[in-house]
Amino acid sequence: MISLVLSGKGAKKKMLFGKKKSVAGLDIGSSSVKMVELDGKPNSLNLVSLGFENLPDDTIIDGQIMELNTVSDVIKNVCVNSGVSADRVVTGVSGHSVIVKNILLPAMSTDELEESIDWHAEEHIPYDLADVNLDYQVTGNTQDSTNVLIAACKRDRIDNIRQAVQLAGKEPAIIDVDTFALQNCYEYNYQPDDSQVVTLLNIGASTMNVNIVKGMRSLFTRDITVGGSQFTDVLQRSLGLSYQQAEAIKRGVSQAVEGVEETAIEPLISNVTEIVAMEIQKTFDFYRATTEDTSTVVQKILISGGGSKLQGLAADLSARLDIPVEVLDPFRSIKVDSRKFDPDYLSEIMPEMAVAVGLAMRGVI
Ligand SMILES: Nc1ncnc2c1ncn2[C@@H]1O[C@H](COP(=O)(O)OP(=O)(O)OP(=O)(O)O)[C@@H](O)[C@H]1O
Ligand SMILES: [Mg+2]
Repeated sequence: MISLVLSGKGAKKKMLFGKKKSVAGLDIGSSSVKMVELDGKPNSLNLVSLGFENLPDDTIIDGQIMELNTVSDVIKNVCVNSGVSADRVVTGVSGHSVIVKNILLPAMSTDELEESIDWHAEEHIPYDLADVNLDYQVTGNTQDSTNVLIAACKRDRIDNIRQAVQLAGKEPAIIDVDTFALQNCYEYNYQPDDSQVVTLLNIGASTMNVNIVKGMRSLFTRDITVGGSQFTDVLQRSLGLSYQQAEAIKRGVSQAVEGVEETAIEPLISNVTEIVAMEIQKTFDFYRATTEDTSTVVQKILISGGGSKLQGLAADLSARLDIPVEVLDPFRSIKVDSRKFDPDYLSEIMPEMAVAVGLAMRGVI
């Protein structure tokens, strides 16, 4: 389990375990807000509540919340409608303002690492350390080396999210990193062993998180500014449609717009898919360029995020990248009461919930 805390130095791990009150996962995406509440024991989790609501366009741009009141109202609605009982939430960050690095340091004690981490991190973080919140986690030890995962996020971005959450009447207990929430969700649900190397791919509206994971260890991550909204934009501009029309066509709503031929749509979708595939391939190439471990081969891609629901995308990516692509099931090992949660609705929104499930796990595991 990756348990980074980017919500400020004083907010280290101890704060969550002080009180035994429930903590929900809150995923504030650029197109919608997702909320998940879990309870149970670390190896036996139950779904308690679930919420999802779309955000109006342009309320979050490039990861920055532009309309604090609008976003906090939507968070409030999601909480009320889902009946979430938690006052505290775990939320996450992704995109350009988050820097994640795996670094190799000489063997050292926990105290020595704590004392020297800023100094080591400095060369890997392209911002002044005074302007970021930083956390790290030891991911491996040998006799003469320590593997350390470091993550940093610009402080103004963290403050921006805190504000939106607090305005909604909730306390941000932890600010995590989306790509690791996705990994925690995968680890719990799939219990992978060291022989399994997968790429977790979360295709949102504006950001795609890529995380190459071996067993329970992240080898390489990259957040890319591409996602579902790029498909909509291209359809909108090329076919002279409104945003709503383009979005409906993308989602395969038949007869969405009169006069738009199927044959006009396909090449436009295919062009954007090509960009997505290229970015994934580039990520694989970057990873290969930074590792000496040439024997590790990615066996499959597990996709999630609303963008992954595009008809035919999984098959298309699989063909272009020559690798199996499967849909990640964030509820695979979580007990879900089908009397309380409609299975059809759950399977419809399942791809969007992966990050929120991973965030919620921080509150219970
Ligand atoms: N059935 C569908 N077919 C195609 N695309 C879909 C479908 N349903 C949702 N999407 C797309 O999924 C995207 C939203 O996904 P998601 O909720 O994971 O993003 P987000 O978390 O809000 O954004 P981000 O993480 O990038 O900030 C939108 O671009 C939306 O158009
Ligand atoms: Mg998202």
